[in-house]
Amino acid sequence: MNEESMEKPLTDWSALLGGLAHELKNPLSTINLNLQLLREQQSMGDTPQAERSVKKVDLLLGEVERLQTMLTDFQRLVSNAPLDMREKNLNDIVADVLEFENEDLTRRGIGVASQFDRNLPLIPLDENLVRQALLNLIVNARDAMEDAPGTLTVSTRREGDYALVEVIDTGVGMDEETLKRAFAVYFSTKQRGTGLGLPMVRRIVERHGGIVTCDSSPGVGTRIGMGFPIKGEGECDEGS
Ligand SMILES: Nc1ncnc2c1ncn2[C@@H]1O[C@H](COP(=O)(O)OP(=O)(O)O)[C@@H](O)[C@H]1O
Ligand SMILES: [Mg+2]
Repeated sequence: MNEESMEKPLTDWSALLGGLAHELKNPLSTINLNLQLLREQQSMGDTPQAERSVKKVDLLLGEVERLQTMLTDFQRLVSNAPLDMREKNLNDIVADVLEFENEDLTRRGIGVASQFDRNLPLIPLDENLVRQALLNLIVNARDAMEDAPGTLTVSTRREGDYALVEVIDTGVGMDEETLKRAFAVYFSTKQRGTGLGLPMVRRIVERHGGIVTCDSSPGVGTRIGMGFPIKGEGECDEGS
């Protein structure tokens, strides 16, 4: 270790935490694989013991999957990888993600609607990150309508200097307390939630120089908007 790196304080938390998440994922996938093999073996037996074992293995598999999801979300949240900004049509990205999610939503009895502002200009976006953010919002909307399938609406429009995409659901909505904490890291009201979805949405939008809006009423539904600057004031455009 040279002097310079010895003196360097340990402040690159994102690299440190991202690396830890990465290291944890390897043994987890080994555990996952072996649990699946174990499950296969156990489910061939038809004794009550074998049945109980299968149930226990299923429980473990569920927990392992939850950890894997959490680590992937965590890696994305702390990632400092530079944005890959390109001039994109926000409508195309939204339409693509919706098409991808359509089958799952429809199967759950959720109606899907979209309203596109066809006059939106091309704007600088990191397409992968915008997709991730949008997906997080759609998954939350889906979860919110789990017990009473309603309608998911995704719309785009221009608002001043921003291209706005809104995800609107007719789900359970949030009370004041939940709304206040919804964007806090690890806050979740779900049994299997990670509490990393909305923080990730916020981080992605803010890295683009954009803004997030959120309205919700209990029993009525939720509307979350991501506004991306049309001229691009995101990280990669600094100083240009
Ligand atoms: N569309 C929504 N409708 C109702 N509640 C929501 C919605 N989106 C987010 N929330 C609330 O905000 C919390 C945090 O969301 P998120 O950060 O995505 O974590 P997670 O989905 O893992 O719980 C959720 O647990 C839920 O209480
Ligand atoms: Mg979520």
